[in-house]
Amino acid sequence: MKKRQARSRHYLMCEPTFFEVSYSINPWMNPSRPTSTERGLAQWKTLHDLLAGLGHTVELIEPVAGLPDMVYSANGATVVDGRALVARFRHEQRVDESPAYLEWFRARGWEVRQAEFVNEGEGDFLCVGDVILAGSGFRSEPDAHDEAAKFFGKPVLGLTLIDHRYYHLDTALAVLDENEIMYYPEAFSPESRSLLEERFPDAILAGASDAEVFGLNAVSDGLHVLVAQQAERLHKQLRERGFEPIGVDMTELLKGGGGAKCCTLELREQD
Ligand code: ARG
Repeated sequence: MKKRQARSRHYLMCEPTFFEVSYSINPWMNPSRPTSTERGLAQWKTLHDLLAGLGHTVELIEPVAGLPDMVYSANGATVVDGRALVARFRHEQRVDESPAYLEWFRARGWEVRQAEFVNEGEGDFLCVGDVILAGSGFRSEPDAHDEAAKFFGKPVLGLTLIDHRYYHLDTALAVLDENEIMYYPEAFSPESRSLLEERFPDAILAGASDAEVFGLNAVSDGLHVLVAQQAERLHKQLRERGFEPIGVDMTELLKGGGGAKCCTLELREQD
């Protein structure tokens, strides 16, 4: 079995101080179903402490009242080689998150720009080695893929999502290391499935029941994979490949349509 190695990472998270589901912009969000901010906070804190405990650097962005989705910091930007491309959100309920992220990066001296086209950050843009996988279909626009390719000077592989429950790429696909991924094939158009099969013939394929509990919304450091504890088969598949899955309970934040990965934005510095 392949020997896995963790690489220490730099993440940006946002405490769910103002978490609630007061509107619906994805099929998971039901404003008439009660949410517990307290439970959301506790689940988020467990995730935060696990990442810090694994030796990763975790920074925080101040939550803003009235922006309950800000906890899903993965959507705030895509950060590669020390350059941050800040999101342009599709829905007006999230538009005011962008200035907060722009300010956060500016204040710390990162090279930063806001995307011109609809671009929901690491929700739809995932780095695998030197390639960026980019989702479209529900949120980020295909034009945003070209924009990201230019901004980062990297090849971007566009993928089309077709199931509205998996509206962001990171709800249907997770990067495990420099050239390995896991994904839920049914979330993608036939052309995108062929692309993925060709490029990642050894990928872990998830079944519907693991996808439904957001098992693919996982965070990997190359060895440890923080993954929904309910995604039991995925845990087994990951172990068979030499990864160490660590189960996390994100059920409260799932009411907003996000899991572990959505709450974690990776900040990739210059090599
Ligand atoms: N309620 C948020 C939205 O619909 C959830 C975002 C989840 N984030 C993610 N990276 N998939 O925009």
